[in-house]
Amino acid sequence: MKAVVAGASGGIGQPLSLLLKICPLIDELSLYDVVNTPGVATDLSHISSPAVVTGYLPKDDGMKQSFSGADIVVIPAGIPRKPGMTRDDLFKINAGIVRDLVKGVAEHCPKAFVLIISNPVNSTVPIAAEVLKNAGVFDPKKLFGVTTLDVVRAETFVATVSGEKDPSKATIPVIGGHSGETIVPLFSQAKPKVEIPADRLDALVNRVQFGGDEVVKAKDGLGSATLSMAYAGFRFAEKIVKAAKGETGIIEPTFVYLAGVEGGDAIAKVTGCEYFSVPVELGPEGALKAIDVVSGANDYEKNLLEACYKGLKGNIEKGVDFVKNPP
Ligand code: NAI
Repeated sequence: MKAVVAGASGGIGQPLSLLLKICPLIDELSLYDVVNTPGVATDLSHISSPAVVTGYLPKDDGMKQSFSGADIVVIPAGIPRKPGMTRDDLFKINAGIVRDLVKGVAEHCPKAFVLIISNPVNSTVPIAAEVLKNAGVFDPKKLFGVTTLDVVRAETFVATVSGEKDPSKATIPVIGGHSGETIVPLFSQAKPKVEIPADRLDALVNRVQFGGDEVVKAKDGLGSATLSMAYAGFRFAEKIVKAAKGETGIIEPTFVYLAGVEGGDAIAKVTGCEYFSVPVELGPEGALKAIDVVSGANDYEKNLLEACYKGLKGNIEKGVDFVKNPP
C-alpha cells in the first residue's frame, strides 16, 4: 500500500504524514510538496515503523517519481484561511493547485484513491472530477472530498451536551458540503441517541458549521485547523485503506459525485446537487454505497438542508466551470 501526501510540508501535511508513517497498513509513504519534502521525509524516515518514506520536489520529475504506483493520494496542498476569509476566498489560488496535482494523478497513478482536503472542498472536488474526466480516468468511486473534520467536530461538541466522556463513541451523520451553512449535522440521527434541549440546538449546529472559524480566529493569522485536520484526514484515509484491504462494514460521511455511487442517484434527486457528502459504505474499490440519511431529516434539519442546497450548487458549478472554461 503506497500512500502519497501532496502538500506534505504544510501545517496539515506534516502531522498527517506522521500518522501515515506510523500506520502499520502503509508500506510506502511518498511526500510531495513545492518545498521542504527532503527534510520532512528524512525526519520521518528515522521512525521505526515499516513504511519506507521518500520525499520529492517538482524538480527532476518529482511528481512522477512520487505519484507513480500510488494506491492512495491525499491532497492538503494550498493556502489556508486567515481571519475574515471564507473558504471560497481560497478558490483563486487553490483551484489551480488542485487541478495541477490531479493532472499528475491522472498521468502517474490513475487508479489511486484520491482524497481532497484542499479548500474550498465544495469546488475542489468537482475540479478534480473534471480533470480526471478529461483524462478519461474518472472513477467516481475513488474520488472523495474529506469532510471528516466536520464529523469529528460534531462528535466532540455534542459531548458537551450529552455529557459523554468519550466523544468518539458518538456516530453523527454530517452531510452536505464543507463550508458554513452547507455543513448540516443530523443530530436527530445520532447514535447513541442524544437529547439536545431546544434552546441549545441552534448554537450547537452553528458551532459545527463554523467551528473552523474558532481555530482561524485563535491562530490569529497563522492559519486554520491543522492538527485536528491531520487527525481527521488520517482517520478517513485509514478507513479507505482498511476497506481496500477487505475489511467490511466501514461507513463514513464523505463528499462524492452522487451519480457514480450506488444509491447516489436517489439522493441527487432529492438534493438537486451532483456532489454531496453523505455516509458512504466503503469497499475494496472505494465507495460501495451512498446511504440516504437525507429523507430521514426532521423539519428543523430540512430547513438547514434548504440553505445548504442553495450554497452548494453554486460552489459546485464554480469548480466545474473552472475546468470547462479556464480563466
Ligand atoms: P499550509 O500553507 O500550512 O500548507 C500547504 C502546503 O501546500 C505547503 O507546504 C505548500 O508548500 C504546499 N503547496 C502549495 N502549492 C503546492 C503545489 N502546487 N504542489 C504541492 N504542494 C503545494 O496549509 P494547511 O494549513 O496545511 O492547509 C492546507 C489546505 O487544507 C488549505 O486549503 C486549507 O483550507 C485546507 N483545509 C481543509 C480542511 C478540511 O476539512 N477539508 C480543514 C482545514 C484546512
